[in-house]
Amino acid sequence: MKPVKTRVAVVYGGRSGEHEISLRSAESVIAAMDPERYEVIRFLIDEKGHWSPRPILPEPGAHPDIDVVFPVLHGTFGEDGTMQGLFELADLPYVGANVLASALSMDKDVMKRVCREQGLPVVDWLIVQRDVERDGDDAATVAEKLPFPIFVKPANLGSSVGISKAHNLDELRSALKTAGEFDRKIVVERGIEGREFECAVLGNDHPAAAVPCEILPSREFYDYEDKYELNLARTELPANLPPDEIAEMRRLAVECFKAVGCEGMGRVDFLREDVTGRIYINEINTIPGFTSISMYPKMWEYTGIPYSQLIDRLIELAMERHEQKKATRFTR
Ligand SMILES: Nc1ncnc2c1ncn2[C@@H]1O[C@H](COP(=O)(O)OP(=O)(O)O)[C@@H](O)[C@H]1O
Ligand SMILES: [Mg+2]
Repeated sequence: MKPVKTRVAVVYGGRSGEHEISLRSAESVIAAMDPERYEVIRFLIDEKGHWSPRPILPEPGAHPDIDVVFPVLHGTFGEDGTMQGLFELADLPYVGANVLASALSMDKDVMKRVCREQGLPVVDWLIVQRDVERDGDDAATVAEKLPFPIFVKPANLGSSVGISKAHNLDELRSALKTAGEFDRKIVVERGIEGREFECAVLGNDHPAAAVPCEILPSREFYDYEDKYELNLARTELPANLPPDEIAEMRRLAVECFKAVGCEGMGRVDFLREDVTGRIYINEINTIPGFTSISMYPKMWEYTGIPYSQLIDRLIELAMERHEQKKATRFTR
């Protein structure tokens, strides 16, 4: 008898600036799915937010043809909890972080606050509210509190969109303006002179971290062009660091994953300061890139979980969480 296949709804594309990346990630995820085990049902969302061939409806039971959802969406309206809310309403199991963990991980300010509360190392940062009327000059105030270079970021975005590195007051002013186009809340932080690393985490209640890799940007920092267009950034897997630092990075990655309440998968990114050797958590991505050059699946592959088994595991974790949820009462 032929085994019954798990029907996986892959939701991809989406309204974010990372639409194109999502298309590439989804193709690579689908290619890694064992066709003997899975039947893929595609849900493509275009840049305007329209679904084809049809949307997922928020009503429980509306989708008897779907066993589990694999959202392969990056950034706004996909990785930020909004989409996860839809799957919760529809009572569908889905891969990756829940609503809260998705939303707070997306916000570079809230994420750092949660980490700091757990005693985890994050770089010094401040918030500038774009819409708040101020007497003073935001840039001057920031420059009094943080040394240059200063990184300026929209609080809720990804792929380095809207991010600048400011070396002086003039650059800081224009950086704030740029970031303000993408978010009302702007994160400004102390620039770290050093190296950049990524560490993959997998699991629900007992997450584990893979062997980390180093990212070697070809530009002054790992900006959008460097990530997706130039093809000049290099990666080193395993990261070339002493064993104790590797172990510390893996520990911090798991701690960060737990602190934000992440589930399923997450990629924790680090900055390591040259002069002090200190390791800082930069951010966590709850739907990491899955393109053919993305490091999340590569780090697992290196650590002993091949790509197709990684997909199996992520789907299992989604099912497990959904099962556990059934034990929760929502009414008296
Ligand atoms: N505080 C910092 N110090 C040094 N480099 C930074 C800092 N913050 C960000 N960067 C650089 O900018 C890139 C993008 O910033 P990041 O916070 O990871 O945003 P995104 O979510 O868009 O990836 C990082 O990969 C790194 O190269
Ligand atoms: Mg990043």
